[in-house]
Amino acid sequence: MTNLKHTILKGIPSELPAKRDINPNVSHAPKRKKILTKDEKKLAIRNALRYFPDHMHSILAPEFADELNTYGRVYMYRFMPDYKIKARHLEDFPHNSKQAAAIQMMLSNNLDHAIAQHPEELITYGGNGAVFQNWAQYLLCMQYLAKMTDKQTLVLYSGHPMGLFPSHKNAPRVVVTNGMMIPNYSKPDDWEKFNALGVTQYGQMTAGSFMYIGPQGIVHGTTITVLNAARKIDAKAEDLNGKIFVSSGLGGMSGAQPKAGVIAKGICIVAEINPQATYKRKEQGWVDEVYKDLDKLLDRAITARDNKEAVSIAYDGNIVELWERIVERNIHIEIGSDQTSLHNPWSGGYYPMGMSYEDANEMMVKNPKKFKKEVQKTLVRHTNAINTLTERGMYFFDYGNAFLLEASRAGADILQENGDFKYPSYIQDIMGPMCFDYGFGPFRWICTSNDPNDLAITDQIAAEVLEEIMHNSPEEIKLQMSDNINWIKAAGEKKMVVGSQARILYADAEGRIKIAESFNNAIAEGKLSAPVVLGRDHHDVSGTDSPYRETSNIYDGSQFTADMAIHNVIGDSFRGATWVSIHNGGGVGWGEVINGGFGMLLDGSADADRRLKSMLFWDVNNGVSRRSWARNKEANFAIKRAMQMNPELQVTLPNVADDDLIDSLKL
Ligand SMILES: NC(=O)c1ccc[n+]([C@@H]2O[C@H](COP(=O)([O-])OP(=O)(O)OC[C@H]3O[C@@H](n4cnc5c(N)ncnc54)[C@H](O)[C@@H]3O)[C@@H](O)[C@H]2O)c1
Repeated sequence: MTNLKHTILKGIPSELPAKRDINPNVSHAPKRKKILTKDEKKLAIRNALRYFPDHMHSILAPEFADELNTYGRVYMYRFMPDYKIKARHLEDFPHNSKQAAAIQMMLSNNLDHAIAQHPEELITYGGNGAVFQNWAQYLLCMQYLAKMTDKQTLVLYSGHPMGLFPSHKNAPRVVVTNGMMIPNYSKPDDWEKFNALGVTQYGQMTAGSFMYIGPQGIVHGTTITVLNAARKIDAKAEDLNGKIFVSSGLGGMSGAQPKAGVIAKGICIVAEINPQATYKRKEQGWVDEVYKDLDKLLDRAITARDNKEAVSIAYDGNIVELWERIVERNIHIEIGSDQTSLHNPWSGGYYPMGMSYEDANEMMVKNPKKFKKEVQKTLVRHTNAINTLTERGMYFFDYGNAFLLEASRAGADILQENGDFKYPSYIQDIMGPMCFDYGFGPFRWICTSNDPNDLAITDQIAAEVLEEIMHNSPEEIKLQMSDNINWIKAAGEKKMVVGSQARILYADAEGRIKIAESFNNAIAEGKLSAPVVLGRDHHDVSGTDSPYRETSNIYDGSQFTADMAIHNVIGDSFRGATWVSIHNGGGVGWGEVINGGFGMLLDGSADADRRLKSMLFWDVNNGVSRRSWARNKEANFAIKRAMQMNPELQVTLPNVADDDLIDSLKL
């Protein structure tokens, strides 16, 4: 047995490992707000010690108290493993169940230093998107996965492995919940408190569900968004060529913007306050040029527009400085947005003007009230600049980061007279009607061989399948299909893989099922050397109920319900998912969204063929039917097509009332 397998099987070591210092060369999570009372701190330490035998307590208790006082959380740094955590061939992980080995691979990828935003605090992306709350949970979870069989299910409560429970081979191997709260305890400070106590975590979407595939996942979605934004403001435009797109953030997801802007052939300017993030993206080649001087930057962008160049430009500073300078110089910007982490505004998601990054981080911990005021003041200035530019003709959309929501809470001039926001979300205008309502969403797969050759074969299979489908695609979805075919054909060349050998491809139910079926056949025939994991972002047709984002283009009042996401996960679990997860929070913030997802291992078997057909059909059409019931005409079109394809699908269709009739009522 390899050392790695042996170490994983040991779980939490029976002898105390040597104390570990944190690695100064990796990015660390900001120190969290000090929110616990003295008694609650004692409870947090008691909770943490539950993972360890008594003889370790006298050493660990003061050490954990120190972590809690210093970082606001107990991460248990001492227990970080010595081996490199990363995606490996499925057979490299110890296992009695191939499905469980695939899950080990996927969660390891989320903690890979090349992937994770703050790896030593087990945060994958979005500032607080956690895989586990502490290293004991990681060790225990890996051990359970290594030992379990296909007759057991591992139950994870916000990263805590409750244990292995007897089930059966068609049940999910893992069921994950993250951040599920009694609704009245779901305010941002509740997260601070209960996370500090070690009883819940913010799993974001693909962090706590082990489905993050690095920045590539978001490049595709961002490319589709900016392409369609350009087409929206200019009916003759094929892409973003000759147009400037300005936004902020070069972090986990936001870092995809410059790359996507260039793929869409436009000019993309992104401001980022954290130089570490900026230069990381520059080194990776995801951003072409970095400027500290605003005027030089803007001159460069204007020249690029004149020459119709495709270029990405980073501003090393605060986004509001950039917007205000654009206003002063009266430069026309075609498209604007924002991708600071405003779902997490008080703990490092949004940096105020007039202070350095370091000073802001200090104020956040030492004087959180003042910090909040500074953030809100900045949000007001931010909104004012955007309002001026939209009056001058810029198209602005909210990028699902809770910008509109937090700006309104800060008292900024962001509301119309009727109380609606002045600007649409990217889902309302772009992704909702053009993608989700038709069933198109961020399908993905990961080759468990960890072999780039396998990935290249899957790319080719997927392109062939989509081209075949496109012959008979209705006019309504032809543009979608051709964007996706172009994407998959060029995906290999763009070398976007970081971490696991993964690919994202927007597809509808038909596309997802046919691609998955072809992969399963290719595994059975030995064309692919090992099984393939299927998954998707929670940010999809059916996975997420979020009134200001994924379901912001639902207008029947049900955007504030979460039935769809819950049904999604329950339905996936009994139709054959290998693992399912349901989360509170993700993207727009704790308490603002419920989202779910799945992972499924294709191993070339007849069983996998049955599972993929049953589960993927439900996984997409659950959301399409809900969108159709909300009277979204694109979804109505799509669900009728789905019913024709499968007569066993019988969906309740809405009757649309006449507007004049409703308006004539005396109410
Ligand atoms: N890309 C997408 O398609 C997409 C979709 C939905 C939602 N989002 C949302 O976008 C947000 C960003 O996600 P992320 O993973 O990149 O988060 P992140 O925290 O990794 O990155 C955000 C970046 O913004 C920077 N920043 C904060 N305040 C700033 C300021 N005033 N000026 C300049 N830079 C500032 C931070 O330093 C950080 O690097 C999240 O709220 C996420 O939910 C993104």
